[in-house]
Amino acid sequence: MPAHPPGEDTEFLPYGDRHLGKEMVGQILDPSKELQEDHRQARDGLLDLLKACQERDLKKAREIVAFIDAVAGPHWRWEEEGLYPALRQLSEDLAHSLLREHDEVIEGVARLTELFKRRGVSRYAPTDWAEAAGLVPRLLYHVATCDGLVIMMEKLGEDELFSLRQAIFLARHQGLTLLEWARQRRETTLLQWEEAHRRQTA
Ligand SMILES: [Fe+2]
Repeated sequence: MPAHPPGEDTEFLPYGDRHLGKEMVGQILDPSKELQEDHRQARDGLLDLLKACQERDLKKAREIVAFIDAVAGPHWRWEEEGLYPALRQLSEDLAHSLLREHDEVIEGVARLTELFKRRGVSRYAPTDWAEAAGLVPRLLYHVATCDGLVIMMEKLGEDELFSLRQAIFLARHQGLTLLEWARQRRETTLLQWEEAHRRQTA
């Protein structure tokens, strides 16, 4: 496993000059626990969303979708900027399949947000509720597969875990929602992925 001295590497954690000191990331002690706690929130939100769709509770559905967008933003970001680049050293295929799952999740949350824009429950047809409920299983599937990464994280070294803690801290500190992050920053991350892949296979 290659070493990535904190503060020196810019490929592993694509934040350029925005590396943080140990004292600042000290509050993020265990990335695995952070990963699982985020997933629990997403899981519960998604299960509640299914219930809200069954009960056609528009206010609740809108609140939950906004909550998922908010929780998922920093989480998806630190995964793509910190965790997945680390895991790709263990398995390139795994990292790429997780990225593709993220594509689907972003599309799903964007569609849910779009669906629940309309005010007034009378504006919703049964097919709208069915469509919203139908998007949930795919999102839950990703939460479940992503949670399985804890077993892979056990194979990361100290330097990688430190960089991961930085990524978690920064993503939460900046606090972009999932859709904001997808619009504003994700393309840059994906370009860095492609560039790293090109260098590896050259
Ligand atoms: Fe995740």
